Amino acid sequence: DFLTLYSPATVANMVCGFDVLGFALEAPYDTMHMRLTDEPGVQIVHEDDFHLPTEPARNVAGAALLALLKAAPAGTGFEVRINKAILPGSGIGSSAASAAGAVVGANKLLGGFFSPEELVRFAMFGEEVASGAQHADNIAPAIYGGVTLIRSTDPLDIVPLSAPPLHATVVHPQIEIRTADARQILKQEVPLKSAIRQWANVGGLVAGLLQADYQLIGRSLEDVVVEPVRSILIPGFAAVKSCSLEAGALGGGISGSGPSIFMLSETEATAQAVATAMRTVYEKLGVDFRIHVSTIN
Ligand code: HSE
Repeated sequence: DFLTLYSPATVANMVCGFDVLGFALEAPYDTMHMRLTDEPGVQIVHEDDFHLPTEPARNVAGAALLALLKAAPAGTGFEVRINKAILPGSGIGSSAASAAGAVVGANKLLGGFFSPEELVRFAMFGEEVASGAQHADNIAPAIYGGVTLIRSTDPLDIVPLSAPPLHATVVHPQIEIRTADARQILKQEVPLKSAIRQWANVGGLVAGLLQADYQLIGRSLEDVVVEPVRSILIPGFAAVKSCSLEAGALGGGISGSGPSIFMLSETEATAQAVATAMRTVYEKLGVDFRIHVSTIN
């Protein structure tokens, strides 16, 4: 009587859209098993080796489900067994996968009681446990799929965007960056000149996606606000970016709060060539890494 579900990795920010753009990957994904229980409340079991807290209020899936339970029929209870394949702290939405997977699974078990927007709202409580901030740029694509724009979080306004076929190459240098720390180091003010450049790029990227204009997508994948600050924490960042562009990538940057770096390509063959270029950089630097090549889904 367990429901099995797969919750995908996601790439937040999409370079210029800090906290407002994100997309889902086909892989990697976490596997979760969920069932309704007779006793009300939430039970979390981690079947992986990540030693994450299982006390519901301190667990991202648990916190999301506790928020959902406040709005669910009285007496509802869930057991969640989680097998994470998305490494915590890798920058590809590991916490969002747990939170989004839990609320989507719960909603299936409740026969579709809640709307997708309500599920995003609940899952954001899980994200808050992980990073101290209720951003939805991993949660929304994990729940809706594809590329999403979060035009506003309060009130919630999610805009799913259509996009042409895109292939992502994601490299995870094996260091861990906590999202909370990566948010702490950001400046709270943006010079008007940078803001103008940034929102021009967001507009260009959204238009490029909707019009399937790969050149416009490539030109718009530029971040003059966050990347200059955060990229300092990521070994090999500049080299990965320049080698990937040489290999034919459209563009890319930090995935979420890092340390993963992602590049987008028009074809699978280019995405594989980008993977080879990334490999060369980290082998030279002597940094351990993992690479995923995946379609946007
Ligand atoms: N938008 C968030 C950030 C995503 O960059 O801090 C974190 O995964």
